[in-house]
Amino acid sequence: MKVVSVVGARPNFVKLAAIEPLLSKSLSHVIIHTGQHYDYELYKAHFKQLKIPEPHYFLGVGSGTHGYQLGEIVKSTEVVLLKERPDLVIVYGDTNSTLAGALAAAKAGFKVAHIEAGLRSFNMNMPEEINRRVVDHISWLLFAPTKSAIENLKRENVLGEAYLVGDVHVDVLNKWINKAERTSDILDKLRLKGEEYVVATIHRVENVENPKRLSDIVRGLKTVRKKLVFPAHPRTLNALRRTGLLRELERRSDILIIKPLGYLDFIKLLKHSWRVITDSGGVQREAYLLGVPCAVLRDRTEWVELVESGWVILVKHKMIELNKVLNLLNPPKRRPPILGDGRAAKRIVKVVIDKLNVL
Ligand code: UD1
Repeated sequence: MKVVSVVGARPNFVKLAAIEPLLSKSLSHVIIHTGQHYDYELYKAHFKQLKIPEPHYFLGVGSGTHGYQLGEIVKSTEVVLLKERPDLVIVYGDTNSTLAGALAAAKAGFKVAHIEAGLRSFNMNMPEEINRRVVDHISWLLFAPTKSAIENLKRENVLGEAYLVGDVHVDVLNKWINKAERTSDILDKLRLKGEEYVVATIHRVENVENPKRLSDIVRGLKTVRKKLVFPAHPRTLNALRRTGLLRELERRSDILIIKPLGYLDFIKLLKHSWRVITDSGGVQREAYLLGVPCAVLRDRTEWVELVESGWVILVKHKMIELNKVLNLLNPPKRRPPILGDGRAAKRIVKVVIDKLNVL
């Protein structure tokens, strides 16, 4: 039996890290990296730290408009799939590589499995919302991380088979957090003490490519009364430079703008922070799992359970007083296991093997 995984961007790699070791134990597993992310910090650092084997194929698609990226990935993935002829193609999350990988597979007649199925923000301005909706409707196996995700799939009457398995990010965090604690020297490097700093990550198109919104966010960040560590995605750094906002941030000695971090450094940095400000789906979950209250710079989230838990607050258009928002965050002690029990990957691989065996 042969399974192909198609990945291309940072969040895809984290999810692949949960599945890969279990899958390659039981069957032949071929990894296609589309090349959507190619910088060391966004790609190699994650493969290296999460011990993911080198991809069998690197398609080198790179950056571009959505149409360009999707088209190039579909074309070159199809060539590989026709050569490899897998029994199943697995795609992860909601990036352009996820959609293009699923389309290439479905159109060439291969079965598709979607990990992280059923999430909905109901905001069609997010490219990821379009991606995951389409992928869910052309997949055969759908692995949902949360109860609300599986309910969304039922409501939409998807044709594939949906399974509630939990969130694979829990599996990955549980596996690596102790090693991160032991080996990462990120706090010393940045001269940080636990609980005394805030971590901020911002990269979503809606926040970064709209100059008014970006400048509101920067004003909000400047209200924070603790040290702020800001690992900046290349897209964000470019936009900050373009708009002259980078200089404004750099003038503040208590704001540290750094390159994106590898997985181990990042989870250690997160774990010891006082609060997190982010617009990332992955980071808000990691913050919850590590017990750090989190402000999410979005109008809506597909992780509704996190907001209901009181650990995550959505900060809509009014960014100005981010410091106040951070102080208002006062979650209950309890963190119910809304993201699952850390055995999502095991469940997924069992279903995959069982289903492929009876084909
Ligand atoms: C993608 C995903 C998003 C995910 C994010 C994580 C889509 C539609 N979006 O967004 O869901 O949360 O990854 O990082 O797939 N760039 C580099 N080096 C790289 C990659 C990108 O400099 O290695 C720059 C390029 O200028 C590029 C821009 O970042 O145009 C955006 O990259 P892209 O892959 O298109 O989307 P992300 O914003 O990274």
